[in-house]
Amino acid sequence: MQQHTISKLKTAFEKDVYKGLTDYPKHLSSKYFYDKAGDQLFQDIMEMPEYYLTRCEFRLLETNARDICRKFSQQGKPFNLIELGAGDGKKTKILLKELLQQQADFQYLPIDISGNVLGQLQTSVRNELPDVDIQPMEGTYFDVLEKLQDVKNRKVILFLGSNIGNLLHTRAIDFLKGIRKLMGPEDLLFIGFDQKKDPQTILDAYNDPTGITEAFNKNILVRINRELDGNFEPDNFKHWESYDPETGTARSFLVSKIEQSVYLGKIDLRITFDAWESIHTEISQKYDHRTVEWLADEAGLMTGQVFEDPEGCYKNYIFRKK
Ligand code: AVI
Repeated sequence: MQQHTISKLKTAFEKDVYKGLTDYPKHLSSKYFYDKAGDQLFQDIMEMPEYYLTRCEFRLLETNARDICRKFSQQGKPFNLIELGAGDGKKTKILLKELLQQQADFQYLPIDISGNVLGQLQTSVRNELPDVDIQPMEGTYFDVLEKLQDVKNRKVILFLGSNIGNLLHTRAIDFLKGIRKLMGPEDLLFIGFDQKKDPQTILDAYNDPTGITEAFNKNILVRINRELDGNFEPDNFKHWESYDPETGTARSFLVSKIEQSVYLGKIDLRITFDAWESIHTEISQKYDHRTVEWLADEAGLMTGQVFEDPEGCYKNYIFRKK
């Protein structure tokens, strides 16, 4: 019955929501947080004092820009600087500025699924750093990277913001393997990994008192209401964060405060919730060196240099193909 209905659903969003809300326990994918409102809420999160990740990676890049950029340009050889999920480019601009200063021969290719985000990024880079040769590429990471496979210059691929942490280890390994396949022997991969630290600091980053993270988490319900003609009442759910210091996994949930039922008209789905039943919405993995080395090894990558921020809460790794 369920399979039959799923096969009739058209979009990946419809299928994933149907599957996630009819599973036990219930779950939804955090990739659906990012509609226009979600993009804005994430921008707001990055400005919050509790969300140390952005500040730490920013300082790491500022402190180590010279070294990092020297590694990227390898004695002045031309390269393509490819960024996966560039966002507002605030952190990348530190590297772009330094690369200009070092007179590196590079083209900047930010990749994003959102043309809107890329347009804004292109305008701001053109205004602030007019000497940067920017060529935005719209699409999914792998589609665009595949297109770039034949470009003759070396590739330096950036994946900042600990975005990798939103993937379970098995999926992160698949993701890294997918990138590795498209890398040549001289290409570099530069990734940001948020580190294990005081569990309270992590919980505070995902549970701010102003409720921005709560609104971000609940935005998935607002999106389902709008796009699937649903009647979720976000106030009937509680934002809940947990962190397991052993595995390094922070998990976000929406917990039903009452027994309730919700109807999604577009996919003709009625869902019932017991009081205190949960929907798992996101993981934000925190790492230690062993775990990063293990992920890289499983994916066929070897670690080059590792950079750390002055507070010691965040690291960026350079990888090559093994
Ligand atoms: C995009 N990603 C790395 C963020 C994170 O830290 O997992 C998304 C986020 N979720 C809640 N706050 C921020």
